[in-house]
Amino acid sequence: MGEKITISDLSAAKEALRKFAAVSCYDYTSARLVAETAVEMILVGDSASQFMLGYDSTLPVTMDFMVAITAAVRRAAPNACLAADMPFLSYQVSVEEAVRNAGRFYQAAGVDIIKIEATGAHLPVIKAVSDADMAVMAHIGIRPQSIAKTGKLKAEGTGADAALELIRLSEQMVAAGASMILLEGTAREVAKIITEKLPVPVLGCGSGPDCDGQILVLPDILALGKGQIPKFSKQYGQIGCEIGKAVAAYAEEVQGGSFPDDAHSYHIKAGELAKLQGLLKTEQL
Ligand code: KIV
Repeated sequence: MGEKITISDLSAAKEALRKFAAVSCYDYTSARLVAETAVEMILVGDSASQFMLGYDSTLPVTMDFMVAITAAVRRAAPNACLAADMPFLSYQVSVEEAVRNAGRFYQAAGVDIIKIEATGAHLPVIKAVSDADMAVMAHIGIRPQSIAKTGKLKAEGTGADAALELIRLSEQMVAAGASMILLEGTAREVAKIITEKLPVPVLGCGSGPDCDGQILVLPDILALGKGQIPKFSKQYGQIGCEIGKAVAAYAEEVQGGSFPDDAHSYHIKAGELAKLQGLLKTEQL
């Protein structure tokens, strides 16, 4: 078992220009497999809403659900640097509620950092969570939780004015206390400028190769999902196909009567079958 990875280790990686890898995953079994790799950070993302619960956006997941699955991932990955996503409406209602909800992830799930999708309007939340001595990752660029308002998500920082605004926003997040920035769906040239400017690790998701670290969701890496994967994502295995093949083979054997066979069965102890048959006979009299 390796050493516990902390946010300081990710900061040291940035300093040393060493890229780090992060994965979004949501359950004990897959987190255990991820924890056996060199991946440094696991995020329990609110994309669990789509991948675990089958919703079409991240909006429906609740704090209770996110805390429960984050705790399961922590049990599987005690040494990973663990991040959890603050779900929709867990930090927008009031700063006090945001601090309390952030604290739940620390107390009930043992996270190292919580992530908040943030605009300038959320700077007081970033500051309050940080002032309460919790590490916070500000998620800027594409913010999937904004879908209710915008109706669609598009690449960010593709024009000079918008890019400048995003650069300034990233600096404000750090000034407010953000220990990390997650930059989603941002033009790679702008992501490079932000990464070079900021003193904290910048985790890129669809923001080009120059960020300090990269994150993809495990269902995309494994090709488990049924839809198109995003342009920025990459499939490193065809596990969905393999699962389909394995389950189909199982169903075929069950339906054809070849599973379970004797090798997959328990046996009554020697001599006990004859005794049982005697007992059954006596019962019938
Ligand atoms: O919810 C999530 O998994 C995320 C990553 C895609 C960055 O926010």
